[in-house]
Amino acid sequence: MQISIKSEADIKKMRVAGRLAAEVLDMIEEHVVVGVSTNELNRICHDYIVNVQKTIPAPLNYGSATEMYPNGFPKSICTSINNVICHGIPSDKKLKNGDAINIDITVIKDGWHGDTSRMFTVGKIPGRTQKLIDVTKECMEIGIRMVAPGVYLGDIGFAIAKHANSHNFSVVREFCGHGIGQVFHEAPQVLHYGRKGTGVKLKEGMTFTIEPMINIGKPGVKILKDGWTAVTKDKSLSAQWEHTMVVTKTGVEVFTVSDKYKFDY
Ligand code: MF3
Ligand code: CO
Ligand code: CO
Repeated sequence: MQISIKSEADIKKMRVAGRLAAEVLDMIEEHVVVGVSTNELNRICHDYIVNVQKTIPAPLNYGSATEMYPNGFPKSICTSINNVICHGIPSDKKLKNGDAINIDITVIKDGWHGDTSRMFTVGKIPGRTQKLIDVTKECMEIGIRMVAPGVYLGDIGFAIAKHANSHNFSVVREFCGHGIGQVFHEAPQVLHYGRKGTGVKLKEGMTFTIEPMINIGKPGVKILKDGWTAVTKDKSLSAQWEHTMVVTKTGVEVFTVSDKYKFDY
């Protein structure tokens, strides 16, 4: 697959889309509390995306039909709680004390995508949960800080997995980061494991996400009957963080930042 190189004008639009996606996460933070349902979080985000930002929630109706959801993904955001790795579908389920939840937002602004997710915690969480969340964020940041022209995606995947494994956590292999632009998921695939010196060699103007999913237990994945929800096979806790970025002349620029959540290069 051809990897598209974005122009300065394209990058300008992706910068806007990225910031808008990050601002949805800023907005929703205060609503992530004991007793709120993920449907309610979905509704608040959807209304903000559509009515305030005048952007489009990319997940809604995205992807191929499944038996249960013939129009693709049925909601506007992904909400993945505890042992859910990714693509959790908002429902009537209410958040409870000690939960860890990933909220994944993708908006389309003027035809360009911004894709970002963060972990949020509910009430008082166990120390082990916080450790997984912190290490997963470090995995994403380590990967992002390596991005520059001439670097191999295999180098980045290797470094991410090395950090996760050094804490005895495991890297999910079935899902990965992805090229992004006018298309939600495009080339290249950005694996969160790899071998040094292998895979795509980065060039200025490539845009993609880094979004490691890290498990406390084993890396195995199971997809629920709804066709979307990915859970850990061993029911262990999973965490994920995601940013959208571009390879610059000298390094990287993260698009999915806001005044409240800047990227520390
Ligand atoms: N935002 C997810 C990603 O990081 C994709 C969600 S696709 C959906 O790539 F259909 F599940 F919403
Ligand atoms: Co993504
Ligand atoms: Co995402």
